[in-house]
Amino acid sequence: HGSAQSPFFGDAPGSAERADDAASVTELTEPDTGPPDRRFRLEAGEMTVRLASGALVDAWAFNGQVPGPELRVREGELIEVTLVNRLPSAEVTVHWHGVDVPNAADGVPGVTQDAVRPGGTYTYRFRVPMGDVGTHWYHSHQASSEQVRRGLFGSMIIEPAAGLGDEDIVDRTVMLHTWQSQGRDHRAFGIADRLDRWAIPAGRKVRLRLVVSAPTPRFFTIDGTSFMITAVDGNPINGPTPLSGVRLMLGAGGRYDIEFTMPDGPLRITESEAMDAGLLISPDGTGEVTPGRNLPDFDLTTYGKPAATEFDHTSRFDRTFTYVFDNRPGFYNGSFTFLWTINGKVFPDVPTPVVREGELIKLRFFNRSRLDHPMHLHGHHVQLLTRNGRPVTGSPLRRDVVDVQQGEVWEVGFRADNPGAWMDHCHNLLHAVAGQMMHLMYD
Ligand code: C2O
Ligand code: CU
Repeated sequence: HGSAQSPFFGDAPGSAERADDAASVTELTEPDTGPPDRRFRLEAGEMTVRLASGALVDAWAFNGQVPGPELRVREGELIEVTLVNRLPSAEVTVHWHGVDVPNAADGVPGVTQDAVRPGGTYTYRFRVPMGDVGTHWYHSHQASSEQVRRGLFGSMIIEPAAGLGDEDIVDRTVMLHTWQSQGRDHRAFGIADRLDRWAIPAGRKVRLRLVVSAPTPRFFTIDGTSFMITAVDGNPINGPTPLSGVRLMLGAGGRYDIEFTMPDGPLRITESEAMDAGLLISPDGTGEVTPGRNLPDFDLTTYGKPAATEFDHTSRFDRTFTYVFDNRPGFYNGSFTFLWTINGKVFPDVPTPVVREGELIKLRFFNRSRLDHPMHLHGHHVQLLTRNGRPVTGSPLRRDVVDVQQGEVWEVGFRADNPGAWMDHCHNLLHAVAGQMMHLMYD
């Protein structure tokens, strides 16, 4: 897709400058001083993006590309990212979604830093947490419902310290987004708001890293091949088995790693609610596949094999917090609007859960409204315990976004192991700005 043009950056590739050789084990235990293992520069600016359909989007982007550059790092590395704000009047920050960084690097304006003014810069510096291998993303957290919608996001892939070790796999990231052009929504894979065609030779292994940067869930089918979900929110599935004939759901902010071996013929990934948005992959990029219709929804809680975990739904938790999500009309920020509430309250009036370092915490989410609420806790991964009273029976599921669909009740647990002041909010960012946010604090 060479069609994106930036008024600001001729050739800023945004790629990593490798500052050093691979981190050694001793380096991993050293403090976060000294030269970083990798340096990146992210420049936020305005640009006009041409979608595959030809629609023009007034976008805000990092380094003149949408999505922004993919940041590939390895666990344990010390990384340094310089954020430069070249927007004419908006302030920005960067949040590392799914990466359990130390609190000071979390990128939340007014909580962990001041937003970066136009013309300003800010340097993030953190060691990539061990165990956070996988598909993650970054996005602005300032006025995030507007800034993420406009394009201030990109993917962040964390590789194992020793590298992926599967160089012949075709490894590609696709961010599922909704772009707005002249008031119209365009559901897109990257900037392809219609069927995008790729050519990949038969027999090649493929890993697609799907990231939903859009505010609403994506439902899709994969036809023409069987496939496996090998990771969710970056966390590996234990013992994944081949799937076909199901509809997958991925909520806002969530990620799936999908793997398959290229068949001789075409395969197609289709969004069930925007049938012409999708990917057609075949050995020569041609062909057609009829998308499956009315397929049963796939239930991730029964997928894969159980494995021993530090805790499960039978464990004794040190504290339990219960949250009910609903909506009502009311006043917010001075205007009469539709509010998204947590226990009847809107941010910052939602009571703050307070935990102590080391405690085992349970959160219970009830969705009494008619829309989905993908709840995202910063700085931690939660383990899914029960859905509608039924325990997770398949692979243990560690997530940083919990898709609480209408009428559902979820219980999730986490170890309070990352002290700081954190956000927990709906990743339908329109809900977040209309009240559905809270803090998580350490005592
Ligand atoms: Cu991906 Cu608080 O956000
Ligand atoms: Cu919500």
